[in-house]
Amino acid sequence: MTQPSRLAIVPFVSVDHMMKLVLTIGVERFLTELAGYIEEDFRRWELFDKTPRIASHSHDGVIELMPTSDGKMYGFKYVNGHPKNMREGRQTVTAFGVLADVGSGYPMLLSEMTILTALRTAATSALAAKYLAPKGSQAMAIIGNGAQSEFQAIAFKALTGIDRLRLYDIDRSASEKCARNLAGKGFDITICQTGQDAVEGVDIITTVTADKQYATILTDNMVGSGVHINAVGGDCPGKTELHRDILLRSDIFVEFPPQTRIEGEIQQLDADHPVTELWQVISGQAQGRKAPEQITLFDSVGFATEDFSALRYVRDQLKATGLYEELDLLADPDEPRDLFGMLLRAGLQPAA
Ligand SMILES: NC(=O)c1ccc[n+]([C@@H]2O[C@H](COP(=O)([O-])OP(=O)(O)OC[C@H]3O[C@@H](n4cnc5c(N)ncnc54)[C@H](O)[C@@H]3O)[C@@H](O)[C@H]2O)c1
Repeated sequence: MTQPSRLAIVPFVSVDHMMKLVLTIGVERFLTELAGYIEEDFRRWELFDKTPRIASHSHDGVIELMPTSDGKMYGFKYVNGHPKNMREGRQTVTAFGVLADVGSGYPMLLSEMTILTALRTAATSALAAKYLAPKGSQAMAIIGNGAQSEFQAIAFKALTGIDRLRLYDIDRSASEKCARNLAGKGFDITICQTGQDAVEGVDIITTVTADKQYATILTDNMVGSGVHINAVGGDCPGKTELHRDILLRSDIFVEFPPQTRIEGEIQQLDADHPVTELWQVISGQAQGRKAPEQITLFDSVGFATEDFSALRYVRDQLKATGLYEELDLLADPDEPRDLFGMLLRAGLQPAA
């Protein structure tokens, strides 16, 4: 078999390499640096091509494509959301993504993004909290203790200094798993019997449950003044976590309004209900938290620029770490117009 040319090769980051990359860099440092890339891209928000993600809904879940470009690079992520998967031994969310050169259209990176999505979601949540949560926040409730939960906890510790966690999940074994995974990582952890118990005395409430319905993970009476809510699990039409009354008492911050109005908690509100875009807060054009008694809500659904930032970050780590493989992805005939000739010549090669 002939060796593929350099132009045929695209770096590929497998799940194994992603895990090694995260562990080599260290989870906290990875999340902090990744948040820096996400923040940097939010600051140049206006430069990006933006569109709500393209969703294909079915009875049990959704498959989505999330494209964006900064004019130099183009990125997209394929991601699914299937809450029933967990009961069948599969992930609720899996993903992979591509970064490409706008000039040539050639892919520059293909990467697993199941782990990377958990990291980028947590980094974005913690970044938003840096601007919105009460100063000196220490305690956070995490309701829903599945695949995303530990990433959320560690990102909040790294970026906002959270060191007390109150965990609640309808399945106690999920909370026990979360507490076990976070043991020795500098948290004081309490497993709670109810959601109401979990939110007792906390500064930040993270909801990150998976259910394909209008759920009410938080009722109005559970949310006291001055709290920051990081609502992560409601991210699809017909899939929300908060009672509508909470939204009416909160100042709401979103990623990209045209997408969040379809997918976020605010799908429960009128289409013109006022929201603030996170990029405006990050770039200093809008105020984040204004007063101690204010309830701030980050209505997270996950936006394409965050995946773009994550792919950009991973690509920047490859040279120093070598944690990727070379994928023979692009056909590269000696003469660009002789694609068919390349195919014919391959037939003449002796079998390997
Ligand atoms: N906003 C974003 O950017 C973003 C990114 C990734 C995932 N998500 C969403 O986050 C959610 C969680 O994802 P995951 O990968 O951790 O899923 P998961 O299936 O691994 O975990 C979900 C957990 O929620 C628990 N749960 C379900 N209903 C509950 C309830 N009423 N009260 C308390 N706990 C409950 C389940 O028992 C499970 O342990 C999903 O809805 C997913 O779509 C959002």
